[in-house]
Amino acid sequence: MFATLDRGRLTALTGDEERLFAARHPRSRELFDKAGEHLLDGVPMNWMTRWASPFPLFVREARGARFTCVDSHEYLDFCLGDTGAMAGHAPPAAVDAIAQQAARGITTMLPTEDSLWVSAELSRRFGLQYWQVVLTATDANRNALRIARDVTGRPKVLIFNWCYHGSVDEALATLRDDGSIGLRPGTVGPAVDPQLTTKVIEFNDVATLERALEPGDVACVLAEPALTNIGIVLPEPGYLDALRRLTRETGTLLVLDETHTICAGPGGCTGAWGLEPDMVTLGKPIGAGIPCAVYGFGQAVVDRVHESWDYHATDVSGIGGTLAGNALSLAAMRATLGEVLTAETFAHTIPLGERFCDGVQAVIDESELPWVVRHLGCRTEYWPRPVPPRNGGEADAAEDPELDRFMHLFSLNRGILITPFHNMALMAPTTTEEDVDRHTAVFREAVAALFG
Ligand SMILES: Cc1ncc(COP(=O)(O)O)c(C=O)c1O
Repeated sequence: MFATLDRGRLTALTGDEERLFAARHPRSRELFDKAGEHLLDGVPMNWMTRWASPFPLFVREARGARFTCVDSHEYLDFCLGDTGAMAGHAPPAAVDAIAQQAARGITTMLPTEDSLWVSAELSRRFGLQYWQVVLTATDANRNALRIARDVTGRPKVLIFNWCYHGSVDEALATLRDDGSIGLRPGTVGPAVDPQLTTKVIEFNDVATLERALEPGDVACVLAEPALTNIGIVLPEPGYLDALRRLTRETGTLLVLDETHTICAGPGGCTGAWGLEPDMVTLGKPIGAGIPCAVYGFGQAVVDRVHESWDYHATDVSGIGGTLAGNALSLAAMRATLGEVLTAETFAHTIPLGERFCDGVQAVIDESELPWVVRHLGCRTEYWPRPVPPRNGGEADAAEDPELDRFMHLFSLNRGILITPFHNMALMAPTTTEEDVDRHTAVFREAVAALFG
């Protein structure tokens, strides 16, 4: 018999945690109140209103897997800037390279020598020969979609329900209850109705994928090899093989977005699982937090690019960017890939992901919770549902924002930050077994408060 959640108790406990948070953070509150004078909703970027706390923590300093807030409390950071700081905060090798490059010039719109090293390293990790550099993973996806449409001459993009690939118009779509395609809830100012640009299907469903690709109007499938933005949804055995086979058979390009799934190893899932995408996109952690992202393609796509365009005549027609490929981004990537997010680092962080998962699972078992926990490399996720979701629709249906809010706030008040939006925890190169065990202890305490 599973333990049941008492909603009244959850509300009362959340109120206690809110009061505790407010009492512990007078300086953050003061700054937040002042910030509202000139920042919309008191924050520089609207996602910063999405934390569980009544007002956001203001950060004084972040190093390794920890940060300190302006009220001088230290936190263990398992959010790591929602993957932007997966290399840890201020990793010394990257900080040195960034400081040295900044002193030698940040952007000239001319290449630097670091670009040769970075592209060769990306080729080694992902098996694709050619690379381009942009500033964000959103840009990488936007550029990849344009190239896919251009070389295939097809209008549509296929995505999986409840994916997230950045603020890319074509990917801001979800399935409605009646199976039609709608805007992702909360989408601001859509350019066009996504039904014109996008096909949305559930992950792990080969028959539907086959039907969606069969008309031959899809330029590319844009996919994470495992969904990560609605919790971790792993591919079922054979699904990614079917995806590759069907995309090849229908002349559809396969674009894998490894921005989060780089957690699976140095070459993301592409490297770890031997995948063969036509293109890879990747951003966030690869420059230790300095804005940079990349997209890569194999020879076959490049041949079609050269057939399709006069590369030099493309001018500013939808790809690239003035600051893209700047010297600072390249120096940051070289240091981060060369010295921080290395195979040795993953050999440390992936077992920590397993340990985190085992700790949470032990508490779930002890308390007979109808919850599950999964990890993908050094990324973990738990949900309040008894079996892992097979697809985005199932994962979305399992979301319990009130429960998440309590779990996040309870953890925060005990010095642990987990990712807002869902229950993700990520291991940094300097995260330790003791850090992971501390999370397990706090998770156990939260569960005892709720169900004990
Ligand atoms: C898989 C994936 N791709 C792309 C992006 C976009 O990244 P950015 O916001 O840095 O452009 C995100 C952001 O969460 C993501 O999770």
